[in-house]
Amino acid sequence: MENTYRQFIEQSVEFPQDAFEVKNDALQFHGIDLMALVKEYGTPLKLNYLPSIGQQIEKARRYFDKAIDQLHYRGNYTYCYCTKSSHFSFVLDEVLKSNVELETSSAYDIYILRRLFEQGKINKETLLVHNGYKRELYAQLIADLINDGFNSVPVLDNQKELELFKTMVTKPCNIGIRIATGEEPQSNYYTARLGLRHRRIQSFYEEHIADSELFNLKMLHFFIDNGIEDSLYYWNELDKCLGVYCKLKRVCPTLDSLNIGGGFPVKQSLAEEFDYKSLTFEIVSHIKRFCEKEDIEEPNLLTEFGSYTVAESGATIYSIIDQKKQNDVEWWNMIDSSFITTLPDSWAINKRFILLAINNWDEPYERVNLGGLTCDNQDYYNVEAHVNNIYLPKYNEAKPLCIGFFNTGAYQNALGGYGGIQHCLIPSPKQILVERDEKGQLKTSLFAPEQGPESMLKTLGY
Ligand SMILES: Cc1ncc(COP(=O)(O)O)c(C=O)c1O
Repeated sequence: MENTYRQFIEQSVEFPQDAFEVKNDALQFHGIDLMALVKEYGTPLKLNYLPSIGQQIEKARRYFDKAIDQLHYRGNYTYCYCTKSSHFSFVLDEVLKSNVELETSSAYDIYILRRLFEQGKINKETLLVHNGYKRELYAQLIADLINDGFNSVPVLDNQKELELFKTMVTKPCNIGIRIATGEEPQSNYYTARLGLRHRRIQSFYEEHIADSELFNLKMLHFFIDNGIEDSLYYWNELDKCLGVYCKLKRVCPTLDSLNIGGGFPVKQSLAEEFDYKSLTFEIVSHIKRFCEKEDIEEPNLLTEFGSYTVAESGATIYSIIDQKKQNDVEWWNMIDSSFITTLPDSWAINKRFILLAINNWDEPYERVNLGGLTCDNQDYYNVEAHVNNIYLPKYNEAKPLCIGFFNTGAYQNALGGYGGIQHCLIPSPKQILVERDEKGQLKTSLFAPEQGPESMLKTLGY
């Protein structure tokens, strides 16, 4: 008798785990019967399990607050949500229920903030950290917030931005500076284009900010593109940033915050395990040790976690609509959508996501490639994060197979141009929201149906 897909998974990784378990041959995600969802709404579909967002925020706060407490760290911790990870209203509504602060990255973000304010979901005390390269419109919209009394902190990406703000801001305000980080040795360049050179920061402060009546330098910000990890590279970059912080703090009394950016890790495979608690403890103790050595008051800490906040809430489900045997060893399971547009990171940066069958867990399994519907030969997925191949229940026309990619809730819609023109005009999938009511019962709703032809034709000028 052949081994089943269920046995294969149980032998390869710890299973069941976290949000995943199997009942009656089919996968449950946070207790959601995914096959029932597929029967009700059809595929392809994107779903967001909203309670996971608040749970992630609370977990991170607990880790930081506990580390601060145990280490007798004298600064506090603030959780900002990085809006570009998912700008959807249902995500912003959810994060704001957990009283987070917000971080923006471009001009149109500010229109969202204004809307949230009109709806009473943020107020003038909500901390608004403004990152990103600021052209005139973005700078003006930020300056308008400051002039209207919002708690906005523009983080300068370059020196010219200060000149822009000087012409726009009419009230004293707090500002931050982003430090350009060094890249890992294997990178194609040495230093990130974002932020100011670390050697220039002190003199820039002394020449342009120290005597200003308008601007108080409050925050230093740095963000490591690879994310927060326990690696020599990360600790070196953090040390470099702390070096700048301590030197600056000696001459700049208003400086009291260190924003360590985003990059809290997210699982790409069930085989991965992150010890968030120790990572957080190590970050806080590293900063404390550094400041003690330099005899500098510890900074308040801020994070701007995007992926960590929303990725785990998202799943993307497809049906296998056909199997093409193109030679004796390669079998292509065709999905009913496109990887390029629905999971663009899988195509652009070879990012992996947790992949599991939704049904047929008690069927034998086989090695396959997954193919998307566009005519682009790069529209495929064939390597798992923890094994070099993809294994799924055997294709059987009589028992149609559905598959799910998980932790897909961050960036994929924005990068895939959700709702716009899609490669080969394969429509954006429907979006389903899953929440819990007051009694804890699951409640699903359709946020948006599958994209229709009208919207694409209109954009295309027909
Ligand atoms: C300045 C800044 N903060 C926060 C983030 C969020 O990063 P992540 O989604 O990895 O948490 C990014 C992502 O690019 C960023 O550029």
